Amino acid sequence: MTSVLPQEVAAPSRLTFPPGFRWGAATASYQIEGAAAEDGRTPSIWDTMSRQPGRVFRNHSGDVACDHYHRYRDDVRLMSELGLGTYRFSVAWPRIKPDGSGPVNPRGLDFYDRLVDELLAAGIAPMVTLYHWDLPQVLEDQGGWTARDTAYYLGDLAAATIARLGDRVATWTTLNEPWCSAFLGYASGDHAPGRREPQAAYLAAHHLLLGHGLAAQALRAGGAREVSITHVLTRVSPQNPHDAHDRDAARLVDGLQNRIWLDPVLRGQYPADVLPLFERFGALDAIRDGDLDVIATPIDLLGVNYYQPALVRAKVGAVGQASYPGSEGVDFPPQGLPVTGMDWPIDATGLSDVLVRLSRDYPGTPLMVTENGSAYHDLLEGDRVADPERIAYFAGHLRAVHHAVERGADVRGYLAWSLMDNFEWAYGYGKRFGLVYVDYDTQRRVLKDSARWYAQVIRDNGL
Ligand code: FCB
Repeated sequence: MTSVLPQEVAAPSRLTFPPGFRWGAATASYQIEGAAAEDGRTPSIWDTMSRQPGRVFRNHSGDVACDHYHRYRDDVRLMSELGLGTYRFSVAWPRIKPDGSGPVNPRGLDFYDRLVDELLAAGIAPMVTLYHWDLPQVLEDQGGWTARDTAYYLGDLAAATIARLGDRVATWTTLNEPWCSAFLGYASGDHAPGRREPQAAYLAAHHLLLGHGLAAQALRAGGAREVSITHVLTRVSPQNPHDAHDRDAARLVDGLQNRIWLDPVLRGQYPADVLPLFERFGALDAIRDGDLDVIATPIDLLGVNYYQPALVRAKVGAVGQASYPGSEGVDFPPQGLPVTGMDWPIDATGLSDVLVRLSRDYPGTPLMVTENGSAYHDLLEGDRVADPERIAYFAGHLRAVHHAVERGADVRGYLAWSLMDNFEWAYGYGKRFGLVYVDYDTQRRVLKDSARWYAQVIRDNGL
């Protein structure tokens, strides 16, 4: 096993994480389950998107995915082999409420019931995310996240799900990465529902946050022990820190990537520099009296997904980036860093800085890294997948988490993205993030070298 360790990973000093540190891995329903039309499930916005030619790499879809719906027992066995203490997964809204807002479909909940029992029998703590992007298409047909009602329906989904699983699931997450749902889904159109309307994006942003608050209240009422939300956060640096325009550009992007999601939940208000964007795009009226009190319902844990740092500069005439609606005049120069198979720049110091910043700017909320990982061009050779770059990525980022803890960040755990290769949204099956390799022709699973390496990290509670 240690033979696969690249030289740079074999760091001179040993790092040990705090006692009780939670180790695990994450997935999401649409990315792994398959069984798209089984037991009463209706189409989600990703089923629709993947049927529109050219939207998803090679027109791939989640129809079969990793067939986890049928193979979950084997998959839990793999988790046991890895020694995971926590498994973060999401529930499919269109399984549990096939018409989005109406009656509960017990067969949909049955699947998660079986999965939770299997996990508990293996000594693995389930961590349930209510919404990881698979909105029922029927709700999109009624406006999706631009409609205020969708927020209330998420609250209902929370109530129905905790009523069934709450006796066995302690840790709950309302939303995964509302930045993606709002800004990739409704502004850049890269994600389902694929709309390109900045006003819709800001309406969606607010309704997602309101939905979070309503779901958090329903989870509390249902007896949840830990309530959380997960954001994709990053460090946004100005290219020239001495240039006031570059600093303004960084502040704007930081507002849209980080603070628009953090401030309402943890401070009960939108950042003063972000509110004018709601106004400019005609979404200010969506924020009604009392909404922010709901959104600021106390949480117990903040989930942090981190993949890459951001670098920006001011540039007259720059069109900005559609995924940051309102970012005209902001340019995103090349960072000059090594990149992953997604072309995402690698810099683990960004993770450390994000965690330290959160504990400084939003004190009192424990943190958990709920996703972190990398895609590479993995090759299955016989029974082995050698993925030294992924090991190096994980090792670097785990050192960064440890460094953040030393700098005072209150980090309680780390979940790798992902347990296994899966449907990577618009990239289809073309990008592999897994610790476990999936041969999609046969559904055979093979532990990558990184999986064996990660199992050792977990056993040692360090590296
Ligand atoms: C995150 C998503 C997750 C996966 C990783 C690579 O933004 O939450 O589903 O796609 O990126």
